[in-house]
Amino acid sequence: MNIIVTGGAGFIGSNFIFHMLKEHPDYRIICLDKLTYAGNLSTLEPVMDNPNFRFVKLDICDREGVYQLFEEEHPDMVVNFAAESHVDRSIENPEVFLQTNIIGTATLMDACRKYGIKRYHQVSTDEVYGDLPLDRPDLFFTEETPIHTSSPYSSSKAGADLLVLAYHRTYGLPVTISRCSNNYGPYHFPEKLIPLMIINCLHDKPLPVYGEGLNVRDWLYVEDHCRAIDLIIHNGKVGEVYNVGGHNEMKNIDIVKLICQALGKPESLITHVTDRKGHDMRYAIDPTKIHNELGWLPETKFADGIKKTIQWYLDNEDWWQPIVSGEYQNYYEKMYKDR
Ligand code: NAD
Ligand code: TYD
Repeated sequence: MNIIVTGGAGFIGSNFIFHMLKEHPDYRIICLDKLTYAGNLSTLEPVMDNPNFRFVKLDICDREGVYQLFEEEHPDMVVNFAAESHVDRSIENPEVFLQTNIIGTATLMDACRKYGIKRYHQVSTDEVYGDLPLDRPDLFFTEETPIHTSSPYSSSKAGADLLVLAYHRTYGLPVTISRCSNNYGPYHFPEKLIPLMIINCLHDKPLPVYGEGLNVRDWLYVEDHCRAIDLIIHNGKVGEVYNVGGHNEMKNIDIVKLICQALGKPESLITHVTDRKGHDMRYAIDPTKIHNELGWLPETKFADGIKKTIQWYLDNEDWWQPIVSGEYQNYYEKMYKDR
């Protein structure tokens, strides 16, 4: 089995590559990644010498390059993680989100049509469903929940999902889509809530909580997401969408307090800053379909996953220090100074 994994130098894609090479040692994995600010080749160092792994620096929007790679590798499957993924950046500059997330997805699927494929899998997000009100804890996102997006990021992901379903219906492309809730774990880029708060805590820097911090996210340990995708690409039904989430809803402020506690830092570091524009209140996945049809259940409890994650950041300063001391500093200044 030859699988092209796009965006494999990012957070979830890299974890997925490690998972696949471990669980399916006879598979060949070809990682295609543009290495944007969020892509980090050092993340893939542990597998670089694996004869069943190849890294190719390429933009998913580069049609010629993508077609050439398909000619060389004859992939059986494509799993598309490549995306611009940060909501705050999408609010500052939507265009690159439309380019990579929509045009890039179409380009990959055109290659799949041209050269043939057993499966194209789109890694999507629960954010395509918009948000749920805080006063209706009985409501959850199912696969039938209408698409109703809030940010340029989620809109670009929703646009891509619609195209994926259209390529299935119009051209018969064998597609699947997964819509997962917020992930956390090793190699999470420092701009996102959990790693940002861990790293700021370690530097005794203010912890910038947007608004009151009452927004709710449904957190899933990244390995559980990787297992879900592995199941979907092998046993999932073509043309179907699968929601992935583990019923682990947490308020932002509670996560930040938990991180302070785990690192022995005072909650006085918490600073409430201007809220995100259009900020989604609550995400909550109903994972009944993937549980009933594919037998998937999350394995890592949040209490264990967050401990492992914090320990990983403590043990792997070599990974995040070069990131936070480089271009990221300009980003941080721009987003958080005077906020
Ligand atoms: P990330 O930002 O950590 O990584 C994205 C990767 O894609 C990087 O390696 C980057 O270099 C690469 N990339 C970006 N543009 C590219 C392009 N034009 N061509 C080739 N490569 C490109 O993102 P992540 O958090 O790992 O998310 C991966 C996927 O999962 C995304 O599609 C995202 O929408 C989805 N997702 C993320 C979460 C989450 O909590 N992080 C939850 C649900 C779904
Ligand atoms: P984030 O990790 O950006 O994921 P998403 O927006 O895709 O859910 O943010 C998670 C939550 O944390 C979200 O409600 C915004 C909030 N947040 C903060 O309060 N402060 C921060 O510095 C960041 C990055 C996020």
